[in-house]
Amino acid sequence: MRIFIVYAHPGEDSFTRHIRDSFIAGLESAGHSYTISDLYKMNFKTDMSEAEYLREAYYRKEAPVPADVIAEQEKVNSSDVIAFIFPLFWSDAPAKLVGWFDRVWTFGFAYGENRSMKQLEKGLVLCSAGNTMEYFNRTGILGALEKVMIEDRLFDRVKTKELLIFDGTSRESPLREQNWKTHLERAFQAGAGIVDSE
Ligand SMILES: Cc1cc2nc3c(=O)[nH]c(=O)nc-3n(C[C@H](O)[C@H](O)[C@H](O)COP(=O)(O)O)c2cc1C
Repeated sequence: MRIFIVYAHPGEDSFTRHIRDSFIAGLESAGHSYTISDLYKMNFKTDMSEAEYLREAYYRKEAPVPADVIAEQEKVNSSDVIAFIFPLFWSDAPAKLVGWFDRVWTFGFAYGENRSMKQLEKGLVLCSAGNTMEYFNRTGILGALEKVMIEDRLFDRVKTKELLIFDGTSRESPLREQNWKTHLERAFQAGAGIVDSE
């Protein structure tokens, strides 16, 4: 399987980076290949230009798509699986990743009739978060994440989809250390079992 990883964390010294590395180690252990877009490192542009906005707002399929967006779309179409790895920022993906969706999920590629995006075998979302699952369930934030990331952004663009939350990773919480090993093991298994975890 070919996996396209879209990674969005601004720092090098982060728990999320360990999640990414464990996931990749799992992929490699199972013989999968991968490509990664490290959005902050690439300085991926996430603000739409006016021309891009007009293309999307007026459904102008023939209007040009910028080269950096086409490069991302080609990575999608040459993969079997897409995996998003990011920390939860204000109950959503970091703006860097939200902007990636704004620009890369273009009309004619990700939506509209006769879209050119292939339907991927699987979409995986690996999200680290400071709060606990108990908190996310109680507040409805888990449901909101599922709606937005899984049901809307992934939708039928992938055949199967999975949201994994690595919770309690706030630096001020003792849970960060307590859960560290089990979280990384879970990320490894998500990579190693990417085909049979459906
Ligand atoms: C700007 C910002 C906003 C954040 N918002 C949330 C949030 O809404 N909910 C949450 O559970 N954690 C939140 N966090 C915590 C991150 O998800 C945290 O970075 C994550 O637990 C992983 O730690 P890491 O940065 O070491 O990878 C936020 C962190 C930052 C820096």
